[in-house]
Amino acid sequence: MTKRVAILISGRGSNMTALVEAMKADYFPAKPVLILANRPDAGGLDYAKAEGLPTAVVDHTEFETREAFDAAIHEKLVSAHVDIVCLAGFMRLLTPGFVNKWAGRMINIHPSLLPKYPGLHTHQRAIDAGDTEAGCSVHYVVPEMDAGEIIGQARVPVLPGDTADLLAARVIKVEHTLYPECLKKIAVNA
Ligand code: GRF
Repeated sequence: MTKRVAILISGRGSNMTALVEAMKADYFPAKPVLILANRPDAGGLDYAKAEGLPTAVVDHTEFETREAFDAAIHEKLVSAHVDIVCLAGFMRLLTPGFVNKWAGRMINIHPSLLPKYPGLHTHQRAIDAGDTEAGCSVHYVVPEMDAGEIIGQARVPVLPGDTADLLAARVIKVEHTLYPECLKKIAVNA
């Protein structure tokens, strides 16, 4: 059965766009049913609306606690009968209570070859370490940040003279292929 997917974003949403475009393919085992942002000005919302997809904004600044914010997101996901949650540049830490409710059904893309460089500034850290390759990882979300089981990884070279921006531009291209591949894999098996 086609899985119902929610994609959570905070910004431009290029990975969300890649996921939505991939799900248009015949026989893709999942379809987007909700694009949810925690910021009303998240750029990706414009694309989602233009695609005619259901969107929601749950603005974290309107909640006093992380628990209340996460409960509001959970309610939106349940109302939309979501099977799989994809975090795509969603820049809020989620509470263990919420994460555990979606265990095995929530995935994230992170711009490093995990377990290297969880957290922020991954590209600069790879350059500073003298790494010769970098990349991205899609993983299940667990309460500890960027730590869940890895579903797939894609690699790119780090080139002489690379800046964080140059490397980020190389990595984001492979993110856009890797994330749909991993979604497909878990949607088939879920
Ligand atoms: C990506 O690099 C992703 O790996 C990270 O946040 C960035 C989001 O970019 N989690 P976008 O909003 O998908 O364009």
